[in-house]
Formats: sequence, structure tokens, C-alpha cells
Amino acid sequence: MTRIKSLVVALFLISFFIGCKSDSRVKIIKMGHAQVVSHPVHNAMVFLAKRLEEKSGGKIKVKVYPNQQLGTERELLELLQIGSLGMTKVSAASLEAFSPEISVFGIPFLFRDDEHIQQILYGEIGRELLLSCEKFWLRGLCFYDAGKRSFYTKDKPVEKPEDLIGLKVRVQESKMAINMIRAMGGSPTPVAYGELYTALQQGIVDAAENNPPSFYNSRHYEVCKYYSIDEHTAVPDVVLVSTKVWEELNEQEQQWLQEAADESAVYQAKLWKESVDESMREVQKAGVQISYPSKEPFAEGVKALYETIKAESPELRILIDRIQNTRE
Ligand code: GCU
Repeated sequence: MTRIKSLVVALFLISFFIGCKSDSRVKIIKMGHAQVVSHPVHNAMVFLAKRLEEKSGGKIKVKVYPNQQLGTERELLELLQIGSLGMTKVSAASLEAFSPEISVFGIPFLFRDDEHIQQILYGEIGRELLLSCEKFWLRGLCFYDAGKRSFYTKDKPVEKPEDLIGLKVRVQESKMAINMIRAMGGSPTPVAYGELYTALQQGIVDAAENNPPSFYNSRHYEVCKYYSIDEHTAVPDVVLVSTKVWEELNEQEQQWLQEAADESAVYQAKLWKESVDESMREVQKAGVQISYPSKEPFAEGVKALYETIKAESPELRILIDRIQNTRE
């Protein structure tokens, strides 16, 4: 009897937590992410949900849960792997622990310019990298270009790599980011995005780094009054679906989902540019001192890191060469 009871409870829990719920008419896919709702990537996900609902005639709905409500990026990816959550949007830096080739995006000063970034994200290499996650139960649907990341600090601007010496710099949960900050002279400290405001405020870290929309929308500028635009990395965001949920969709539904994701990436790219300009204006208005240090010394500082990465990983060596040799 108790056995039957526990079986019933287990079945109930499984059906309650499953990432994609459906009655006979409507499938609901839960999508969790760590960003705040004023951020352009949140709006892009809402757009994805709207397009999918339209395409499927209301048969598939995506419910977006922002603000780390369902967990940190690492936790969200774990939930996706077991199928307890249907979709997410995370930074490629969080994804690298699950799908190693993705770490290529964390390599500093890899891209020549914005066109080069877009060529890679939306071209053949990008598509291959999205699909490389599949063997880890994560299907990459599209990239959102998340611009370039630069340092922001509480007490003094970062004008040269030496200014990072002795600074506790918050990094994403990424080995590549840890190695980069070390190579530049700082002390890397991993902190989840949702906990960063408090970590900065309480002095657990002295500095962090991010793109302008995240610096502004997360309100880290209230604590950090120096933003040094060295643009060391261009780590994109990635929209993913659990392979368990993907496989439950029929071919037509999979196609709708892929199309809705692709359209949301185009929409996000449009929002992004405006958001970067607005964020720079707003943080400046709020008293942030913006500086443009020379990038050369920072790039010089990480040269040896390239050699280590290439020696340690033949896959990354090939990818780095392919990316650097991609020209228009
Ligand atoms: C970017 C990215 C987020 C990520 C954040 C971070 O803003 O869009 O997904 O959480 O960086 O630094 O952790």
C-alpha cells in the first residue's frame, strides 16, 4: 500500500515539475532567465513567446520567468538538462561549463569588430556551436549578440592592466573568465549575476565587468562610478531548449519554435543598439565617469593565455583559427 502511495506521489511530482506541460490543446513551456525585465534580452524573449503563440495558433505558449526567479544561470542549465525546465537564455560564459567549445567566446580580444562578431554568431560557426550543446541535453536555438564587456569599479578607474592588481573582480562562473582576469593581474571572484549588486555594495568584490545595458539595467552603476571601456570580450547570450522538451514537439512545432527564436534574435539586435546608447547616456547622467583606455596593454597581457588555451585544447585551437580567419 505504502509503495502504491509513494508511486502516486512520485508520478504527481514528475507531472508537476516537467518542463513542458500540456493538456490536449495547449503546451506550456517554462523559460527562466537571470536578467531584469527592463533589459532588451528580456523583451526579445517575450517577443519569442508571442511569435510562437501566433505561429502555433495558440497551441504552444512560452511563459517567461525573469530575475533569477527559477535559479542562477548554472542552475537553470541543470534544470534544462533533466527536463524540469523547458527553455532558458544564459550567457555563453555560464554555458561553457556544460558545453566546452562554447568557451571560445570568453577568449579576450578575439573579434576584430562588430561585423566580425555578427558574422560568427549568425553564420556557420555559430550554428555548429549551437548544435554542439545537443550532446549535453541542451539544444541551442539562437544567439543574442550581447555586445562587448568592459570593467566597472567602485573606487578608481581601470586605465591600464596594472590598475587591476589587488582588485577583487567579479567574474561569471567561467574558467575562461577566471583565467582572463588572472592574466590581466586582478583577483577573479565568481558571483552569480543576481547577487552582484549586493556583493559590490558590501565590498565582497571591488569591480565587475559587463556590457552597457547590463551595467545600467542591473543598476550596478549606483555603486560603481567608473566605467572603463576596454571591451575585452564579446560574450553572447544563448537561447536554449531542453532536448527532452524539444523531442516532445512534433516536426512542425520544432520548426515554429526555431523560427520564433530566429525572429527574436533579429528583434533583439535592433533593440540592442538603442539600449547601448541609452545606457551610456543614463549612467553618465547618474555621475559615472566613463573612460576609454588604450586596449593594447590589455590585449598584450592576455597573449600568453592564447598559447595556453591552444596547447590545452586542440578543439579550441581549431576554432580560434577558424574565427580569426573568417573574413567578409
Ligand atoms: C550578461 C548576460 C547575462 C549574464 C550577465 C553576467 O548581462 O546577458 O546573461 O548573467 O552578463 O555577467 O552574469
